[in-house]
Amino acid sequence: MNTFNTDEILTRDAHLIQSFADLDGLKQRAARTAIVSAKGAYVTDSEGNRMIDGIGGLWCVNVGHGREEIIDAITRQLQTLDYYSTFYNFTHPTAAALADRLAALAPGSLNRVYFGNSGSVANDTAIRILHHYNNRLGRPNKKKILSRIGAYHGSTHLAMAMTTPAYSEGWDTASKGLVHHLRAPYAYREAEGMSEAEFLEALAEDMLSAIRDIGAENIAAFIAEPIMGAGGILVAPDGYHQRMRQITAEHDIKYIADEVVTAFGRLGHMFASEDVFGMVPDILTTAKGLTSGYQPLSATIISDEIYDVISEPGAMFLHGMTYSGHPAAAAAALANIDILERENIPLMVQSTGKVFEDALRGLTDSAIVGEVRGSHFMMGIEFVKDKDSREPFADDINVGLRVAQAAQQRGLIARPLGNILILSPTLIMDGAMIDEIEAVLSDSIGAVATELGH
Ligand SMILES: Cc1ncc(COP(=O)(O)O)c(C=O)c1O
Repeated sequence: MNTFNTDEILTRDAHLIQSFADLDGLKQRAARTAIVSAKGAYVTDSEGNRMIDGIGGLWCVNVGHGREEIIDAITRQLQTLDYYSTFYNFTHPTAAALADRLAALAPGSLNRVYFGNSGSVANDTAIRILHHYNNRLGRPNKKKILSRIGAYHGSTHLAMAMTTPAYSEGWDTASKGLVHHLRAPYAYREAEGMSEAEFLEALAEDMLSAIRDIGAENIAAFIAEPIMGAGGILVAPDGYHQRMRQITAEHDIKYIADEVVTAFGRLGHMFASEDVFGMVPDILTTAKGLTSGYQPLSATIISDEIYDVISEPGAMFLHGMTYSGHPAAAAAALANIDILERENIPLMVQSTGKVFEDALRGLTDSAIVGEVRGSHFMMGIEFVKDKDSREPFADDINVGLRVAQAAQQRGLIARPLGNILILSPTLIMDGAMIDEIEAVLSDSIGAVATELGH
């Protein structure tokens, strides 16, 4: 029985400010959906509609919703130790066990873990640590950051400065000149007439020219998502991350891999940097799938080399949050990693993720689908007005939103992003659910295409 009163929820909700929302548009009651419960791969709204969670919460509920094992682990932890931070000289066994486990899972010499509460904080922490590191090494000018057009690294002041400038329209970001945005690895729109290898060289040359202009002695870090997520699911050309790693290493620039989305099974491995892209970064940041979203937690995992500098005698680590290493969050992460390992979820994703990818690629036949791209359970569909010229739909058509709304009416939550629709479901999809997602998308895209006269 549906015991929720939508009117009551939405009346109260008028006091809540949603993230990344058209706040004026949300004044229309119909534009809002209250999710009231979730189990496995599905969520239910306040009207009793059950829908496939095609975005896995916010690409974070990797092991699926409602896992008793994680809920029990959180409860047991709260009963034993509800709160203590990893602050000053204090620690607690659950955070220590999780740091140890992450150090073992992370590639190379990424052995030191700082816990925060969000991906944004994990990325801010990476930069603060590197700035401090360069100060310790007597290189006070080595502070600038290379990021990329299309990147999303978070919403704090600094993380937003590293994010693609489009996200800051009408807003301010951290000091101008701190971040330089390189070209996006957006093959569909940026590589016209080029082979994959030529596009890779063009992107490498873009980095090299930025280094020449800014001076390697002024650049602390390059930050990159293995596959760009919120930028529209942009998969870089083959060999890109290794090439960028090589260039940054040659110029003594640290490589930060933002694995907030790509870790914990989404691409078929616990971490994607080495296992998928053959490269070990100097810092790896992660969040989301670390706890499958059951608790807010992030990790900034740094190399022994960086740690050795910031832990020298006389150095003080002047960085910290009240909830760093929160016991309940650490307990959730440990139980989540237990499930991922016991159920072999990353390995399973290596095959089910490919089935998902193939199913979605079939949608390319639609009159308004320009490209379907991505990998495993991280996919994007780009809609175009004209498939041959790749002319996009005008912004006010809101094609992504239209398809997302059509899909929601048919029982699937997907995420619109301008002309792109993003699918990043839980990692427990079986063949039948994948077929269902494909059927809903095919229907929804068909309906919108007809509506738009295609
Ligand atoms: C790649 C990436 N980095 C960082 C973040 C920021 O994480 P959070 O929203 O937890 O601050 C996100 C969030 O979507 C992300 O996709």
